[in-house]
Amino acid sequence: MATTKNTAPKTSKSVSKSVKTAVKETKTEKAFEEVTTVKTAEKPVEKCEIQVVPKKKILFVASEAAPFIATGGLAEVVGSLSKALAKDKNYDVRVIVPLYQDVKKEYRKEFRFIGNIFVPLSWRNQYCGIFEYIANNVTFYFVDNEYYFKRPGCYGYYDDGERFAFFCRSVMEILSFINFYPDVLHCHDWQAALSAIYLKTIYCFRPEYQFIRSVFTIHNIEYQGQYSLDILEDLFGIPAEFRYLVEYDRCINLMKGAIECSERFTTVSPTYAGEIKNPYYSHGLDSIVRRNEFKLCGILNGIDPDYYDPATDKALFANYSAKKPQNKAVCKEELQKMLNLPIKPNTPVIAMISRLVAHKGLDLVREVIEQVLRQDVQFVILGTGDSAYENYFNDLAHRYTGKVVSIISFNSDLSRKIYSGADIFLMPSKSEPCGLSQMIASRYGTVAVVRETGGLRDSIIPYGAGGNGFTFRDYNAYDMLYVINEALNVYREGEEWQKLVQRAMTTDFTWAKSADYYLKLYNGMLQ
Ligand code: GLC
Repeated sequence: MATTKNTAPKTSKSVSKSVKTAVKETKTEKAFEEVTTVKTAEKPVEKCEIQVVPKKKILFVASEAAPFIATGGLAEVVGSLSKALAKDKNYDVRVIVPLYQDVKKEYRKEFRFIGNIFVPLSWRNQYCGIFEYIANNVTFYFVDNEYYFKRPGCYGYYDDGERFAFFCRSVMEILSFINFYPDVLHCHDWQAALSAIYLKTIYCFRPEYQFIRSVFTIHNIEYQGQYSLDILEDLFGIPAEFRYLVEYDRCINLMKGAIECSERFTTVSPTYAGEIKNPYYSHGLDSIVRRNEFKLCGILNGIDPDYYDPATDKALFANYSAKKPQNKAVCKEELQKMLNLPIKPNTPVIAMISRLVAHKGLDLVREVIEQVLRQDVQFVILGTGDSAYENYFNDLAHRYTGKVVSIISFNSDLSRKIYSGADIFLMPSKSEPCGLSQMIASRYGTVAVVRETGGLRDSIIPYGAGGNGFTFRDYNAYDMLYVINEALNVYREGEEWQKLVQRAMTTDFTWAKSADYYLKLYNGMLQ
């Protein structure tokens, strides 16, 4: 609870005083207001009113959050955006995620058990333990139920629908248990969509929940949470009268439901917000997006500048910064050594760190990479995914020994060694809601070559326009080849390349601006 200081004017000791203090506290709003009246003999009544504005309460609902549990960009954004928002002392920022078996042990042992409740989910009544952990002014809650979450990994189970329905219903029940009714319930991706849906269909009729507003953020429209309509009531516990909110294309579509039920919905870059109105990008949801366009906005993701800092990153072979970039050459040399590539300081290293799936633009790479390899270059790829691509890159590495390295796995330590040791970072995605790798690479002085889509278009500005990287517009292998060659030519110019590296390293990819946009969005909803 907020406290106030009495800043009423000082009076002499001989003067009789009477101080009245009235403290009003409304239970739901937790508003705290102190009115102090000071009476003196000499002066007329002076009244000094101090109003302490209560903190605005934001609750993130998400299926993962770094550093506790992360399978991709979603976790990084939930972790770093909440931290950035909480820097503003006017906001009480909290995050709630499931307590999976794989939540990192080093954090888990510090979690505090704050109690348990039973959560209704249709005819079920399930145990829900609640753990708490505070970091960087953000309060994290973890929802415990071993039946649902004591399994390896986060997703991919036959009952994911039920698991995340339980999670979302738990979120709504936990609000009463912890007596925290957020001003804004900010739900991320389909796994959290049901919280926004339950709010509008079940909970908003309770007085404490009636003023909660919700925002739904789409990190990737490809994954919508689609289920058979048969299980609407039996599994999701949604009354039949609300079927119209979640029904789409003769299925339950949780993402659609959250778009309908939220006051605002957002995407993780402005360009992607425009793209998903188009069937080419929308995975079938464009008509819903267009109909709800009045509440859509795109806000570009940022990265945590402390977490990705080549000056302090312990995973690197040597540290460097934009002001003192010399050690990047050490990182390159050590990387070449480690990967058994010839140690050649003047041979450009092109890197890709990516899930090996079609929308990452791997078909373009497959089509023209051998033309790139005719030149004096080295190519490194790190990632896992579809076996067709895994096999292709393994085969390529086999055929171009000493020139191509393919590492079919994922390892954060190794990825940082590649971000720092490479010269060019290739990311030719067919679609990319935001993408964080191009920002990380740039911060580590590795110049990005990207297709102009989604967040790639919003974060990488073409070299020709005085920007920080290279871009091509159409999803076409030869357009990509053209800009790769352009990048290689500038690389060979030496000095010009160093200027470009500087521009990449000093581009502002922090959350500063975007966190402000989110706060504006929240405040706009609360008026
Ligand atoms: C998803 C998107 C990616 C985005 C990330 C974080 O993983 O595919 O583009 O950067 O979410 O928002």
